[in-house]
Parts: sequence; C-alpha cells; structure tokens
Amino acid sequence: MTKKLITIAIDGFSSSGKSTMAKVLAKNIGYAYIDSGAMYRAVTLYCLDNGLINDAGEVNLPALEAAIGDIKISFGVNAETGATETYLNGENVEGKIRDMRVSGKVSTVAAIPFVRRELVKQQQAMGRDKGIVMDGRDIGTTVFPDAEMKVFVNASAETRAQRRYDELVAKGDTTVTYESVLENVKQRDHLDTTREESPLRRADDAVELDNSHMSREEQNKWMIDLYEKIATR
Ligand code: DC
Repeated sequence: MTKKLITIAIDGFSSSGKSTMAKVLAKNIGYAYIDSGAMYRAVTLYCLDNGLINDAGEVNLPALEAAIGDIKISFGVNAETGATETYLNGENVEGKIRDMRVSGKVSTVAAIPFVRRELVKQQQAMGRDKGIVMDGRDIGTTVFPDAEMKVFVNASAETRAQRRYDELVAKGDTTVTYESVLENVKQRDHLDTTREESPLRRADDAVELDNSHMSREEQNKWMIDLYEKIATR
C-alpha cells in the first residue's frame, strides 16, 4: 500500500533517547532527520567562542541579536558513518556542541525569544516538503503544530542521567561524574519546562512514550509501528 508523506515531530526531556529513536526511524523510512537541539547548541557554542556569554550565564543580548543573522547552521551526512552532523558557519562542530561546556549553557540560550524565533523559522523551512523527522522540545507544539505524527518521549531523570553519563564516558570523558550529569539534567528540565517562550510540554495530540524500561529494539519497533499506522491511514 502506498504511504502518505508526513511530518514527524518527536519531543521530550533531555537524554530521553528521543534523538536515537528519531534517527533510526528516519533511516528506516528514508526521511530526513533534523536534531533541533543541535541548532540551539550551535548558537550556544557561537556565544561561548565569541565572548557573548559569561561564566555566570549572562548573555550579551544586543550583540547576539546583531549577530544572529550571521550564524549559519547546516547539517551534513558523514560519508563514513552515515550520521548527520552539525555545521556552524561551515565548520563541523558535532563534537564540540555535545560537551559539558555547551550543555551547561544551552538552556539559557534556548530561552531567548529572538533565538527561538530565528531557529523555528529555519526549522519550518526545512520541513516545508514533509518527509522529515525532527526532534526537540517544541516541535509538536510550535514548529510543526500540524504534524501528522507527534510523539512525546519521557523517562525518569535518573535513567536519563545514567544514559548521558554512559555516553560521555564512552566518548572518553574521564572527569565527568554521574552526580554532575544528574544535576545538569534536572536543571535543564526545570529551565526547559518553565521558560516563557515555548516551554517543553506535550502537545495535546501527541502520543506519550515512557521508555524507562524499554530496550532500544522495543522503542524502535514502537515508533515504526506508529508510523505505519499513521502513514497508511
Ligand atoms: O536535545 P538537546 O539536549 O540536545 O537540547 C539542547 C537544549 O536545547 C535543551 O536544553 C533544550 C533546548 N531545545 C529547545 O529549547 N527547543 C528545541 N526544539 C530543542 C532543544
């Protein structure tokens, strides 16, 4: 049976595993995958590298607003691994945007209204032709409110911190502690759910998935089953 080309919005808390699930789904069904969090991370990296944010997390708003039009974020596929990687003004920043230096400041930058307006505009342009899986915090509520498939992924803060910690250790980070990651996860949950502009919340028509006790295979199957149901309707 032929399938409809649809838009898929996957939202949820940080380290809920939503990006992994979104990536696998996109690959399985031949859709483009966009990690919207990577875009907020890239803007944060730009702020850090250009002295627009201090250690206390205060952002030089006029300078950032003047620069925002010059911050070009794009995605490219790594020919060796097949993974989508993030570029900031032509430089591959995939590694840099995942470290704790960026993670510690990204919620502050993501709460700035003009940053959100600019990135949402770019995200909507990327999804104009459908056939896209985008993950983030406000995809089903703000970026693509009309998406045919919306999933809200959740898991306990402890489960999510353990996942992020394992990821960082696997990447060779020898200084990180589980406690500091848990603290960062909780702090970001708080900032993400309480900010004024597009706070993280489940869209009324999103399907909720708590994957605390699910294996990757189970999650991937759950996603593809839901997609099949929606796209063949
Ligand atoms: O998914 P992530 O951890 O890479 O996201 C990084 C930060 O960006 C996180 O603190 C929330 C924010 N974010 C957002 O506000 N809106 C999105 N659509 C995606 C991410």
